[in-house]
Amino acid sequence: VDAPPGLLSDVAAVVGPAQVLVDPALTAAYDTDWTGLFRGRSAAVVRVGSTSELSSVLRLCGAAGQPVVLQGGNTGLVAGATPRDGDVIVSLRRLAHLSDPDAGGQLTVGAGTTLAAVQERARAFGWEFGVDLAARDSATIGGMTATNAGGVNVVRHGSMRAQIRGLEFVLADGTVIDRLNRPAKDNTGYDLPDQLIGSEGTLAAISRIRLQLVRPPRHRAVALIGFDSLAAAVATVQLARTGEGPQLQAAEVMFAPGLALVCAYLRVAAPFAQPPQVVLLLEFGGSLDPLGQLADVVAKAPGVGDAVVADDSAGRARLWRYREAHTEMLAAVGPPVKLDVALPAGLLTEGITAMEQAAHGVVPDSQLVVFGHLAEANLHVNVLGADHAREQIADAVLRAVAALGGSISAEHGVGRAKTGWLGLSRSPAEVRVLRGIKRAWDPASLLAAGVLLPAEVSEMNDDSH
Ligand code: MLT
Ligand code: ZN
Repeated sequence: VDAPPGLLSDVAAVVGPAQVLVDPALTAAYDTDWTGLFRGRSAAVVRVGSTSELSSVLRLCGAAGQPVVLQGGNTGLVAGATPRDGDVIVSLRRLAHLSDPDAGGQLTVGAGTTLAAVQERARAFGWEFGVDLAARDSATIGGMTATNAGGVNVVRHGSMRAQIRGLEFVLADGTVIDRLNRPAKDNTGYDLPDQLIGSEGTLAAISRIRLQLVRPPRHRAVALIGFDSLAAAVATVQLARTGEGPQLQAAEVMFAPGLALVCAYLRVAAPFAQPPQVVLLLEFGGSLDPLGQLADVVAKAPGVGDAVVADDSAGRARLWRYREAHTEMLAAVGPPVKLDVALPAGLLTEGITAMEQAAHGVVPDSQLVVFGHLAEANLHVNVLGADHAREQIADAVLRAVAALGGSISAEHGVGRAKTGWLGLSRSPAEVRVLRGIKRAWDPASLLAAGVLLPAEVSEMNDDSH
C-alpha cells in the first residue's frame, strides 16, 4: 500500500530526504516488533528531528488522510508501535535532547531519549530516575510515557505516571500543545497530559516530557531468597514492605523452571545448590546499610530455604542478571506466547494454578515460564511450546485471569496484541467512554488505528471492501 501521491516528497521537504526511509532493508527494523511476531509493511518511516518537524509531518499526513503509527525504541511487547500495511511510521528517536536537572531534580527530555541516558544524566547530578527496566538501553521516555511503563521499582516510586510533571504534545492535525512547565497545582479541568500517559500513541504524539527525579539511596543490598511456596514469598514481601529504616526498592519473583533456563542461556551457575521452587529477589536501599534489615527479614520470613546476599555493585548486578535475563532467554528459546497479567493480591497461587490449567487445556505439554513484580501481583506469563495455538492459549489464560478479577495487561498495555481481550478487563460502558476520548483527540482516527481499541463493527465492514 503506497502513501498518497506527493505526500512523501512533501514530508521529505520538511525532514530532509535522508530521514524518510522506504527501502524495505531499512524499514524492516521498524516494521517488525521486538518479539518478531508482529509486522506490517509501512509506506515509509519518517524520522523527525524536532517538535516543529513532528508538527509539520502530522499536519501533512492528516491533510492527506494518511494513517500514522508513532514509534520510540520499539521495545514494546504488545505491538502498539507496529504498523499495519500502508501506515507511515513516525519515529521519535531523534528527539533525544535532554536538559540537566534543576536544583529540585526536574529535567526536560525529548521523547526519543533512552531510559539509560536519563539514568546516566540523573546520576551525574546526584539523582536517580524512579523507573527502571531491562530494556533501558533502547526504550525511550516517550514510549515509556505513552505506555505508562512500570518495571522493577514500582513498589518504591510508582510507574511512569508518578514521575511525570508535564508534557509537550502534538495533535493529529499538527497542533502543538505545551503543558511542560505547568504550575504544580492546576485544577482547570480534564488533565490532558495525564490522559496521554498510557494512551499507547492513539491520542497524540508526545514530543517532550518534564520528569521529576528522586534521591538515590546511599546504600543498597540485594538478596535472592529461596522458598518452597509462593505464599511464603508473598508473606515475606509483606514483611519487607512494612519495616522501618531502609526501604524496599524491588520485590521480583522467579520460579525454578525459568531460573534453570536462564542459567543455561547465560551459561552461569545456579544461585543455589538445591534449586528452590520459588525465588524472591529483594532490593533494599537507604541512608544506612540495609544488610541488617535484609538479614532480619530473612530470619523472620516463613519457609525460607536458602538465601544469597550482595551489597557491592558487581554482586548486586550478578544477582539481578538472573531476573533480568528472563526476557532475552525467552526470546531466544521461544518466542513464547507473552502475557502480562495482574491478579488480586490474595489470589496469586490460585491464579497460577488456574492459568496452568487453562494453558494445558489447550496444549497439554505447553510450558509456562512465570516471573514478575510480586509487590503488585503482576506476573509475566510466557507459554512455550504452543506456537500452533497462540490465540487459543492467550484466550484461555486471559479468561482464567479475568474470572478471578485480574487484569489482562498489568504494565505492557493493550497494543495490537491484546485488543480482542480488552472487554475482559473493561466494561462496555468504559469502552464507550474510551472510544469517545479517542474521537475527541483524533477525530479522523489516523493515529495508531487498531491499537488499544478493537475495531468497531462498522470499521470492520469498511475494511472488507
Ligand atoms: C520485565 O519485567 O522484565 C518486562 O516486563 C519484560 C517481560 O515481560 O518480558
Ligand atoms: Zn515487567
